[in-house]
Amino acid sequence: MGTRAHLSSNSIDPASVPQRTLATGASMPAIGLGTFGSDHVTPAQVAEAVRGAAACGYRHFDCASVYGNEAEVGAALEEVTSSGVRREDLWITSKLWNDKHAENDVIASCRQSLADLRLTYLDLYLVHWPFPNFHPPGCDVTARSADAQSYIHENYMTTWRAMESLVDRGLVRHIGTSNMTIPKLRLVLRDARIKPVVNEMELHPHFQQPELFKFVVDHGIEPVGYCPIGSPGRPERDRTPDDTTPTQDPVVVEIARRHRIHPAVVCIQWAIQRGQTPIPFSIHNYHANLAGAVSEPLSESEMNELAAIDRNCRLIKGQVFLWKEGQSWEDLWDPTGEISPP
Ligand SMILES: NC(=O)c1ccc[n+]([C@@H]2O[C@H](COP(=O)([O-])OP(=O)(O)OC[C@H]3O[C@@H](n4cnc5c(N)ncnc54)[C@H](OP(=O)(O)O)[C@@H]3O)[C@@H](O)[C@H]2O)c1
Repeated sequence: MGTRAHLSSNSIDPASVPQRTLATGASMPAIGLGTFGSDHVTPAQVAEAVRGAAACGYRHFDCASVYGNEAEVGAALEEVTSSGVRREDLWITSKLWNDKHAENDVIASCRQSLADLRLTYLDLYLVHWPFPNFHPPGCDVTARSADAQSYIHENYMTTWRAMESLVDRGLVRHIGTSNMTIPKLRLVLRDARIKPVVNEMELHPHFQQPELFKFVVDHGIEPVGYCPIGSPGRPERDRTPDDTTPTQDPVVVEIARRHRIHPAVVCIQWAIQRGQTPIPFSIHNYHANLAGAVSEPLSESEMNELAAIDRNCRLIKGQVFLWKEGQSWEDLWDPTGEISPP
């Protein structure tokens, strides 16, 4: 790691943070800071959290063009590197939005994210969703794109070839997928020249996705877990009455009480110990989450207790990506094990 001059007094040594070794041999910090302000946290507040988190020892930041704050986050990252953190010690992810799946748009979008983030390369670029179905940020869950489509593998591969060309051009170091299912990933792994190194997916104690988790790990793909705390700040439009709250689960609450930490930190510790890379969003509690990443591990029996509280409760259902009338959001996630028909 570079000079420590940039670290604040209560900071955590980035060298002590667990790392994941990706299929390419690259190291990625096993916890990152999410940057989606969920419509109620401003870009300036997110940028301030990026500055604060970097000063406290974070080196991994999960960004996306659709979060609408890459310019502000980029200004913060520039300050971070000016303060002595070396670029090569940062891990910066960005994502391609759904209306940019066409070949030329992929390259232009990546260049735009690089310009906004004030970087010459990204460590990781993800296809944010496997559906090219645009909807405006903040729209209602009933909104549908007029030309919405199901997953069409050859179209996805056109996008993926453009993603591969970003690696060839040196604009990104790694490429990956997000919001995928096993049948879709099987096809991508079959046809990709450059395989995804990461699959970003919803993962928290109430949504453990054991089959997909095992599939990606078995195929040398690092699972990055979004909504690791159960996204308590997510927009109203993303909530349904059946949703559960992992931080209120009695098992999580009891383990937190025992360790004198917040239930959110239990979720982070569980995630890292289980083997995924959580990317908690936080503007107030990022220090506690990083501290959790370097503290005493949970016991084996606590890990077993947490494994047993899976509720198969998906919080980010993706309704806006549905492509025909009368469908339910489950169709987006290939519940039969086959890709849902057009
Ligand atoms: N690939 C995708 O499609 C996708 C989808 C969704 C999300 N993501 C990524 O994943 C990131 C995380 O997901 P998320 O933001 O939805 O949810 P999350 O990380 O599960 O939850 C964030 C919320 O938890 C609170 N929190 C965090 N740490 C806490 C602690 N130690 N104690 C108490 N409260 C705590 C935060 O409040 P404070 O701010 O007050 O601390 C914030 O309201 C996003 O920011 C984004 O980068 C990706």
